[in-house]
Amino acid sequence: MEVVIVPDAKAGGALIAEAIAALLSRKPDALLGVATGSTPLPIYDALADMVRSGSLDASRARICQLDEYVGLPADHPESYRSTVLRQVVEPLGLTESSFMGPDGTAEDVQGACDAYDRALSEAGGVDLQLLGIGTDGHIGFNEPCSSLASRTRIKTLTEQTRQDNARFFDSIDEVPHHVITQGIGTILEARHLVLLATGEGKAEAVAQTVEGPVSALVPASALQLHPHATVVVDEAAASRLR
Ligand code: F6R
Repeated sequence: MEVVIVPDAKAGGALIAEAIAALLSRKPDALLGVATGSTPLPIYDALADMVRSGSLDASRARICQLDEYVGLPADHPESYRSTVLRQVVEPLGLTESSFMGPDGTAEDVQGACDAYDRALSEAGGVDLQLLGIGTDGHIGFNEPCSSLASRTRIKTLTEQTRQDNARFFDSIDEVPHHVITQGIGTILEARHLVLLATGEGKAEAVAQTVEGPVSALVPASALQLHPHATVVVDEAAASRLR
């Protein structure tokens, strides 16, 4: 695992956007796995700037989701489908046809999860998966005690994660209780994992991810098992590293 400490979130975003641009110049139709939440926004801003200035042609990139709320209509502004369309797909000049995600409205939820795992492998696998990290060490929505071999499946959000996500909704009562998330085993199949963590609130989770034992109690620690994992942290998030 490679750990890169940057001064702040903006620098982390710029660094990761450069890595994505380098990938797209080698492989223009690379499949990029994207996360939602606040952390990756500086990456998406930097990529959009590159596209606007003409220094990046992302027109053949393919985008896939890491996770999705269960039961939220796909066109709800806070569904992860809508969020990724707004934050990534449209700013990069792509269309919905270059974008895939799990169906959080399917009646057969497990069928939708299995279909998504199949779709990812039929698409040739994820070339670069962006990850954030929860204060409890979750990646995707694999909360503590998730199997390190897990596949895409339905998970129940912890109350902490629902509270953390309530800022995107009018009230916590509107935050769904369930999500579909790529499993840890699914995530580990991506060719390159890039986790960005910023702010003091992530410092303990980062320390356990990077320096602790590999444990289902800290799902992000599974990155230690991956041959090409990069953890980019700002100084605040790095503050508990030894
Ligand atoms: C979202 C996701 C989550 C977030 C994590 C951190 O798609 O997979 O694991 O990355 O909850 O969220 P923020 O960045 O909002 O602190």
